[in-house]
Amino acid sequence: MAVDVILGLQWGDEGKGKIVDFLADKYDLVCRFQGGPNAGHTIKIGEDKYVLHTVPSGIFRPNVQNVIGNGVVIDPITLLKELAKLDQANIPYRDRLYIANKAHLILPTHRMLDAASEAAKGKEKIGSTLKGIGPTYMDKTGRNGLRIGDIHQSNFSEKYEALKKKHLSLLGLYPEIDFDLETQEKEWLAAVETVRGLKNVDGEYFVNKALKEGKAVLAEGAQGSMLDIDFGTYPFVTSSNTITSGVCNGLGIAPQQIGEVIGITKAYCTRVGSGPFPSELFDETGAELQKHGMEFGATTGRPRRCGWIDIPQLKYTIMINGVTQMVLTKLDVLNFFDKIGTVEQYIIDGKTTDEVPYDLCIDGLTSEVNYYEGWKKDAHMTDEGVLPDTAASYVNHLEQILDTKISIVSVGPERDQLITRS
Ligand code: GDP
Ligand code: IMO
Ligand code: MG
Repeated sequence: MAVDVILGLQWGDEGKGKIVDFLADKYDLVCRFQGGPNAGHTIKIGEDKYVLHTVPSGIFRPNVQNVIGNGVVIDPITLLKELAKLDQANIPYRDRLYIANKAHLILPTHRMLDAASEAAKGKEKIGSTLKGIGPTYMDKTGRNGLRIGDIHQSNFSEKYEALKKKHLSLLGLYPEIDFDLETQEKEWLAAVETVRGLKNVDGEYFVNKALKEGKAVLAEGAQGSMLDIDFGTYPFVTSSNTITSGVCNGLGIAPQQIGEVIGITKAYCTRVGSGPFPSELFDETGAELQKHGMEFGATTGRPRRCGWIDIPQLKYTIMINGVTQMVLTKLDVLNFFDKIGTVEQYIIDGKTTDEVPYDLCIDGLTSEVNYYEGWKKDAHMTDEGVLPDTAASYVNHLEQILDTKISIVSVGPERDQLITRS
């Protein structure tokens, strides 16, 4: 069987958690392949709301095995907090959660370095979630990192102490930051002990054997394609490959194993943290999108910046991911608007283009907004489970302009608030 992929086509928070949870029961395995606790994937099941940071969003489907792949960076403290919430909700996970031995560990000092590096950047700060993501991936590529597999080795303490020492000397270069290392370290070491008792596996063998046995695998992306370390709005990006190619590195599977690539986009656009955002709205309309979309970060609680959907940006991420179908989320948030905007061209020095330039921060870049009639219906969808006509023609328009099928339209946070289109 192939590995299908679900990933975000914008700057994150497209609703990946909800869609992975919905589709997961068609799969045997759901695997996270990159990112770490910077992610916040929300799943709403009835009255219960869960926010997952490290655990794959297939965990609520009893027959699904969940893998935290080698491309993920893991903070044992965050992981344990997530597991405690699953325990509280009586969600069994012990026999269905696997952690790749080659996944790297986020140390408390990685979080200190993240905070120090952001503070030193001043006005240029990235707006990181401060979860230690950048410094951990730096140690990975710098060949200094600690991995899950190391916690089973007798020299783990020595390795940990050596890396911590290195971090503390680096921290000497930065302004003072407020951090209680002693307490954090105690909590971290205790959490490492618990992680040792979980199912730590050689993820690449685990996933490839499952594929050989004919099992269906779904890879769950974190962040969004515009935050990709290579193709995002650098340097305002995260430190991993969030795009389809990241699935191969992050799970240990070959490119020809990739099946459907399901790209998720909101019916508008948001971004949290710093960096360029061509379709951003600074007016009342932006504030309305923020209010109706309840746009606050699931990990940090920060308000998300809001704007209209950006077609050149989506054409770009559809291209680099090889998207075969799309999911359009939060269409219901547009219920409140008389007219709905889409940015269909950028204007750079008087010339229009639908390509994303090398640097989206350049002076002289503006965007052209086209407006479509709103549907102004309170109902999220009609009683027959179909969209109002005007909403349906808006979806058809997006499908045409992006030249990609929209297979699911999501119209609310609940599991069943969506329409599958034939
Ligand atoms: P993720 O990081 O991509 O998983 O997305 P987040 O969980 O960070 O943010 C998406 C937010 O939108 C969450 O609060 C979801 O519960 C919510 N949500 C998802 N789909 C829909 C939808 O179709 N309509 C509305 N109104 N909310 C949605
Ligand atoms: P999910 O998976 C939205 C953003 C941060 C910051 C930049 C770098 O929930 O979609 P980092 O902590 O990686 O150093 O932050 O990336 N960012 C996200 N924005 N959703 C996310 O994840 C994000 N993960 C990181 O706000 O601008
Ligand atoms: Mg999120």
